Parts: sequence; structure tokens; C-alpha cells
Amino acid sequence: MRIFVLSTALALAATGALADVTYNVVGFPEDKGSFGVVINKKMTPMTTTNATYPLWTVTVPGASGGSGWRYVKLSPEGKEIQRESFLRSFVNKKSTVTDNQVFLRINTKTSLPALPQVYTNVEPLPSKAFDETQMATIHITANEADFADMVAHPLDEERKALKCGFRFINADTIYSAAEVKVKVSGHGSRKYQKLSLRVKFDQDKGETFFDRPIIKLRSETSDPTLIREKTYGDILNAIGVKASQAAWVRVYVNNKPFGFHLMMEDIEEPFLRTTIHKGQQVPKDLGSLYQMGSHVVGEEATMLYLGPNTTNYNPETYENKIRGDNTKAEPMAQLIAFMKDLQEYDPTLPNAVKFWNTRLDVDGFLKAMVMEYLAGAWDSYWWKGNNFFMYYNPVNARWQFIATDFDSTFSDGGRADVLTTYKKFAASRMRRSGKDHPLVSKLIYKNKEINALFEKTLLTVTQKVFNPNVLNPRLDAYAKMIEDEVKWDLAINRSKNPGKKSFSFDDFQKSMNGPVTGVTIGIKPWIAGRAKDVPPQITKK
Ligand SMILES: *[C@@H]1O[C@H](CO)[C@@H](O)[C@H](O)[C@H]1NC(C)=O
Ligand SMILES: *[C@@H]1O[C@H](CO)[C@@H](O)[C@H](O)[C@H]1NC(C)=O
Ligand SMILES: *[C@@H]1O[C@H](CO)[C@@H](O)[C@H](O)[C@H]1NC(C)=O
Repeated sequence: MRIFVLSTALALAATGALADVTYNVVGFPEDKGSFGVVINKKMTPMTTTNATYPLWTVTVPGASGGSGWRYVKLSPEGKEIQRESFLRSFVNKKSTVTDNQVFLRINTKTSLPALPQVYTNVEPLPSKAFDETQMATIHITANEADFADMVAHPLDEERKALKCGFRFINADTIYSAAEVKVKVSGHGSRKYQKLSLRVKFDQDKGETFFDRPIIKLRSETSDPTLIREKTYGDILNAIGVKASQAAWVRVYVNNKPFGFHLMMEDIEEPFLRTTIHKGQQVPKDLGSLYQMGSHVVGEEATMLYLGPNTTNYNPETYENKIRGDNTKAEPMAQLIAFMKDLQEYDPTLPNAVKFWNTRLDVDGFLKAMVMEYLAGAWDSYWWKGNNFFMYYNPVNARWQFIATDFDSTFSDGGRADVLTTYKKFAASRMRRSGKDHPLVSKLIYKNKEINALFEKTLLTVTQKVFNPNVLNPRLDAYAKMIEDEVKWDLAINRSKNPGKKSFSFDDFQKSMNGPVTGVTIGIKPWIAGRAKDVPPQITKK
């Protein structure tokens, strides 16, 4: 008897035991249609609820984990109108519940080649919002007319955010918020048909979106691959720079495709708490935070001292975001003091690292600059006086440079002038009258001690991560991972939206390896070029 029971169990295990199996798929039906699952030619309709839509679920009694299945889209009458071309199966045949899968997408999760951790990992604690091995689906529900009006007027930066419903579904999680605030975000990207959005959760109601309550859904519209910004962030993680994390998401608004976006955290209070102060005691009151931009024609956030008063600085170039210890009348005071130190500093003096370390996180700043140079980030501090924050960290009483917006990188924008040595990159900034960038020229370029540190970091980062051997496998994995999403995004009809069109699928493929209009060098050759050019630039000591 015993032997018989055992062998039956073994036989069952081998064929896949009969059990109740639950199937889950994310899908947007036509009109009042629905979804179903087909197992061994038999179709079972699936259902959804207001709390889970667009996730469709059914438990099929007596199904076998060993049987394959496909999802089908059904008409309102329950007729099959679209069937997946591939057969799905469990890796573990004993499974009784699927992940939340996505209609027409064979992979729910991707395992990515890891990058080496070159310097100490300073990433924030993991958040379910930013699991980069999968692409979540976001559904925003908005007043149709208000949303259409917002999209029709993307340049209106003063427009009030819309109150919208929000749902996020990934392989194992559904997150809903009854009311979030949504508005168009970005500067240059507002001139394209495909727009970026900013989503703010109501923290007062405990809606923190996995500790990341202010996010941007970035359009990546200037980059034919949509991979450049994510890759830049990956490398910042690998070299121990505190930065916003990123994950790709599919975005729908009112049941209609809106676009394939890179979700990133905005540099706001929650970012300071979870990322900048991670691993440290978080101060009750955060320090002062400034956002720097060069959106006013002719202006750059150079960090040059322009006078003792807040009124000496254009608030659109130096915007105080958190007041910290400054008075209401002089919100720039702390940053002005730092810029004054910088102006008075004589870079020929000894002990520069010690001097600056009491004022600035020199290590974090140098790594951020190494990355700006390596990726040819022409829209950031070094080159353009743009897209960065300065945070006065009250825990160690010094400034922290925070980089943001990594899309104009790896030749995106086709700027031939960034294709040069780091010294020429630095010198060309100083030549422009009134537009010197002293954090670079005085510290990195003119001070021997800090320059040596910079060069050492530049060489290490190039040898250990910023080279084709390390980065190409990950780029290939990304290209494969997002290929179907890029096709889906490009199929969205945005002809009603004002603004420029973005790229084609052909450009997506070409821009990995070669030129496309406006992006003169592919990501891979860009990386290979810098990896080759950097070592000879470093003076042997
Ligand atoms: C689900 O939402 C619809 C539309 O908002 C509503 O009419 C319906 O009553 C809701 N159903 C449940 C069970 O709450
Ligand atoms: C700064 O403000 C003080 C006090 O209001 C004023 O006297 C001074 O002229 C201002 N300096 C500059 C350079 O604007
Ligand atoms: C896109 O939508 C517009 C109307 O907004 C329509 O005129 C046009 O034919 C559509 N284009 C395609 C390719 O479907």
C-alpha cells in the first residue's frame, strides 16, 4: 500500500498535479469587453473588480500547473477578438497562481546583468515602486475634458495639477490611490507630442506610494532608445552617487494608452529623507535645497558669486525649494555664503580637499562630475549650468550636489563639442565671459590635489564600469526588455497633441549602435569611445 501511494504521488508530481490554478492578466478591453484564459483549447472567462481593474483573474478548478495557457481578449458579447500567439507555462509546474501577467507580453520579469559596485552602495532602501526587473502598468483616471485640455496646453507651466485616480500593478502588487495630483512636467520635453507627467500622492492620507510619494513619469522623448537616462542612473548607483532611482512603466489614462515612460523620483523632501539621509539620522528639519536651471535664455546656474543679496540671483536660475535656516527675506543666504567662499578661494593653496570637505561632499561631487564628463552630459552643471540641486545637509553641515535629468547624455542632442578631453571640456567653460563654472574650474581643473582625486576616480570608473565589456550586456538586455513597449508607445496616435514628433522604431534600433537624426553617436560607440579616450588623458604620476 505504502509503495502504491508514494508512486501515485510521484506520478502526479511528474505530470503536474491537478489543482485549482489562478490566472492573472493585466489588460485593457475594448469598450465593455473582457478577457479570458485558454487552457487545452478550453476558454474560461476572467473577471475584474473596481479595486483591481485592469487586472483580470480567474481560478480554474482542476487545472494543471503543467498545462500551458494563453490569454484572449473578448468582445462585450464574450467572443474572442484577440489571442496571444505564444503559449505560457509555469517554470515550477507545482505553481497554483500566476504573477500578474501582461496581455501580449511574454515576459513579466527580466533578469538583468548586474553592474559591478565600484564604490560603496548608497542606494536608498529598495521600494516596490522601483523594481527594475519588471515594467509595471499605471492607470490614471482623470476628468476626460480637463486632461485633454492639459495635454493640449503643455507649455502652461502655471496650470493647476489635476486630481486623478491612480493605480499601479506589477507582477505581485496592486497599489491604488483615490486621489493624486497630476500635471505635465519637464522643460524641453513640453515641446514634444509625448509628454512627461508629475504625480504627487497625498501623504497626509498615508498614501506614500512605497515611500516614493512624488514621482515623474518621464517621456524620454528626445532619446530614440529610451535607455540613456536609465543607464546613466545605473552607473550612478554603481559608483556610489546618491540619485533618484528609475524604472520603466506603461502608462494608461482613462483606459487609453498614454505612453511608455521612465518613472523617477522627484528631488523633493521625500527624496532627501529616503536617499540623501539614508543610513543617517534624519533631521527633524531638513536643510535648505536649491534647484538650478538654465531655462532663462542667456542664463546659467554657474555658481558664480553675483552679490550678497537674494535679489542678485535670478529665482528661475537659482530656485529656493526648501528654506532651511534662511530667513524669508533672504532665502538664498546660505547658498550665497558658499558661492562667496568659492569666489574667494585660491586654488593654488594647499589642503584643498580638507578645506572643501568641511563645506561640500567633495567625493559625491567629483563622482557626479566624472559621470557628467563620461556621458557627455551637455545639459548638466559642468557644461550648461543646468539640472542640478544643492542641498545643505544639516547632519554633517555641508553641501551636497544632487544631479538630476540624465536624458541629454550619450550623444543625445548630437553635440559634437562635448566630444573632447575633460581638460578642454573644463577650459571651454572658463573662456566664456561671466559664465565660468567655478566648482569645476577652481576645484577640478586648477587645484592639483582635487584634480588628482578627480583623475583617479575618472580612471577607476572608466576601467571598472564605463566600458563596453561591462555595459554592453546590460544595454542588450534593456533593448530586448523594452522592445515591445517601444513599439506599443510609437503606435499611440498623438497627432492631436501640439509639439514635435519623437523617433521611429528604426531609430530605436539604430541608436544603440550608430547615428540617427539629432543623435550623432549610438550609445555603444559613445561608451567605447570614452573608454578608449580617457586613459591617455590621465597624466602619469
Ligand atoms: C464600480 O464602478 C462603477 C463605475 O464607477 C460603478 O457604477 C459600480 O457601482 C462600481 N461597482 C462596485 C461593486 O463598487
Ligand atoms: C543688498 O541689500 C542691502 C540691504 O537692503 C543694500 O543696502 C545693498 O545695496 C544690496 N546690495 C546689492 C549688491 O544689491
Ligand atoms: C490619428 O488621429 C487623427 C485624429 O486625431 C486622425 O485624423 C488620424 O488619421 C489618425 N492617424 C492614424 C495613423 O491613425
